Amino acid sequence: MIRQENCKIVSNRPIADNIFELVLEGELSAEMAQSGQFVHVKVADGFDPLLRRPISIASINDGSFTIIYRRQGKGTSLLADKSIGISVDVLGPLGNGFPADEAKPGQTAVLVGGGVGVPPMYELAKQLARKGVNVISIIGFQSSNAVFYEKELAEFGEVYVATVDGSYGRKGFVTDILDGLEGQADIVFACGPTPMLRAIENGAYAPKTYLSLEERMGCGIGACFACVCHTKDDPQGFSYKKVCSDGPVFQAGEVVI
Ligand code: FES
Repeated sequence: MIRQENCKIVSNRPIADNIFELVLEGELSAEMAQSGQFVHVKVADGFDPLLRRPISIASINDGSFTIIYRRQGKGTSLLADKSIGISVDVLGPLGNGFPADEAKPGQTAVLVGGGVGVPPMYELAKQLARKGVNVISIIGFQSSNAVFYEKELAEFGEVYVATVDGSYGRKGFVTDILDGLEGQADIVFACGPTPMLRAIENGAYAPKTYLSLEERMGCGIGACFACVCHTKDDPQGFSYKKVCSDGPVFQAGEVVI
């Protein structure tokens, strides 16, 4: 059930260059089940900035939940300035997340996260490892100062890191690492920038692939149509899906990305 709640800030700290981890306390956490869902956070009191910010859920805990955001622009700067103990207005959980049940015990799931697409992979890795799925995580960033959650993901399986400038891990893109895994994946789950998702879709690295199109979000609640994308079977026509309410997670081949 979707609810709106004033959630108390338990912690709000930088974990990489302009990347913040925010832990919120609230009954909302009991409504959360799927990784890849998101919450809509009101970053300021009053109407400035007017819009809420859609932020994906990184971890669902008992009585609290964790979200991770990039500080860029006025809204998220206001959020970064908020201190422990105060409350923020949160709406959620929203959207359809990753179908963890599609990965069976004993199978290998490869989780791919790029930049702020990494956070939902943490909750997914946790859920998959708990039911006996072999988890391999591949995370990609621009450079070493942007890297986060490598250690956290390592709790659940092997982790590979790629940086574009080569300052940490392997130089290049997450797909360079995926290329090297040669048929190991039974299923791929990915979240990150659109070019990364396109490359993963085209690479067909596993029999099943699920992609989260987070970058295409606007209002987050089905009202603005900023997030619509065409379905693959009708790429020029009137058949479309809303990323915020039909997604953000889609099976590869379902929509035009
Ligand atoms: Fe506004 Fe989806 S983001 S309708």
